Amino acid sequence: MFNNKLYNTPYHDQDLSGSKFLITGGAGFIGSNIVEYLIKYNAGHVRVLDNLSNGYFENIKDFMGLPNFEFVLGDIRDLNTCKKALEGMDYLTHQAALGSVPRSIADPIISNDVNVGGFLNILTAVKDAPNIKRMVYAASSSTYGDSPDLPKREGNEGSPLSPYAVTKLVNELYADVFSKIYGLNTIGLRYFNVFGPKQNPNNPYAAVIPIFCKAFIENKQPTINGDGLTSRDFTFVENAVQANIKALLYNKLEKHQVMNMACGDQVTLNEMIEILNMLSGNKLQAIYGPERKGDVKHSKASIDKINSILGFEPKIRFNKGLEIVFDWYKNK
Ligand SMILES: NC(=O)c1ccc[n+]([C@@H]2O[C@H](COP(=O)([O-])OP(=O)(O)OC[C@H]3O[C@@H](n4cnc5c(N)ncnc54)[C@H](O)[C@@H]3O)[C@@H](O)[C@H]2O)c1
Repeated sequence: MFNNKLYNTPYHDQDLSGSKFLITGGAGFIGSNIVEYLIKYNAGHVRVLDNLSNGYFENIKDFMGLPNFEFVLGDIRDLNTCKKALEGMDYLTHQAALGSVPRSIADPIISNDVNVGGFLNILTAVKDAPNIKRMVYAASSSTYGDSPDLPKREGNEGSPLSPYAVTKLVNELYADVFSKIYGLNTIGLRYFNVFGPKQNPNNPYAAVIPIFCKAFIENKQPTINGDGLTSRDFTFVENAVQANIKALLYNKLEKHQVMNMACGDQVTLNEMIEILNMLSGNKLQAIYGPERKGDVKHSKASIDKINSILGFEPKIRFNKGLEIVFDWYKNK
C-alpha cells in the first residue's frame, strides 16, 4: 500500500486523525501521492474527487475499502459536484486540472473549461463551505512565461507562452480576488516540473522524465526536443507533498499567497540522459528533434518565499529522486 522509500518523515506536528481532507484530482500523479501521505499518517477522512480523465484508478486502488478513504467519481466542471464533495470537509487541496502545454495548444477550449471553469466552481463551492480551514491549489511555474529572469521569483512574472499557462495565471487572479472579496485564505503552490512514482509514462501528454525512464528501461534511444541544453528545476514529488501538507496546516496566513514549490536546482536534459545511463547501465545517445512550441528554455526557482513562510525545504533532490523513480518504473 505504501512505497517504503517515501514519506518516512512526517511534515506535520498535529494529530491528523480528527481532520477531513478533500483532494481533487486525487487519482492523478501528485494528488495520489498526497493521498498516500495522508493515509499513512492516519488522517481522519480522505476524500478524492476525480473524473479519471487523466488519472488512474490504479493510483488509489490500494486505499479502496479503508474506512477513512472515499473515492467520488465526478467532474469539477459541475458546481453541485464540487459543493457536495466539500460537505463535511476541513481542508481542500485542489489538484484537478488538465496539465501539459502541448495538450492546451491542441485543445485550448477543454483546458480552459477544466482549468478555469472548474477552478471557479471549486472557489465558489469553498466560499459557501464555512468549515474549510484552508484551500491549497496547484499553480504552475508556466506563469513565469517569457520572463528571462533566473531564478524565477514571485512578483517577477512575464507573459504566458501557452493556453495552459494562461489558465494557471487566471487561477491565481481568481484566488486573489476571492481572497479580497470573500475573505478566502488560499495558497497557490507554483510547481516546477514535478516527477516521481505514479506519474504515467504511457499518457499521450506524458512528461519528460516518465518518457525517458521508459526509454531507458526498454533500451531505446530517447528523443530530446531541442539541443538538450533546456534546463528545468525538476522536483521530486515528495517535496510537493511536503509543501501541500505544510500549506494545508499553516494557520497564520490571512490572505491569498502564491509561492514557488521547487528545489532551486537546474538540470539540463543532456545531464539527465547521462544520469539515466549511469542508473540503467546503458550507453544510449539521445536523438535531437525540433524545440516544442510554448516551452521556456530555462527554469529554476527561488524558494526563499516558501521557505520563509512554510518552512519548506526540499528533502529529496534530483539525483536521488531520479534513482527512486527509475527503480519504481523498473519494478512496476
Ligand atoms: N506535474 C507537474 O510537473 C506539474 C507542474 C505544474 C503544475 N501542475 C499542476 O498540478 C496538478 C496535478 O498535476 P499532475 O501532474 O498530478 O496531473 P495529473 O493529470 O496526473 O492529475 C490531475 C488529475 O485531475 C483529474 N481531472 C482532470 N480533469 C478533471 C475534471 N474535470 N474533474 C475532476 N477531475 C479531473 C485527472 O483525472 C487527474 O487524475 C495539476 O493542476 C497540474 O496542472 C503539475
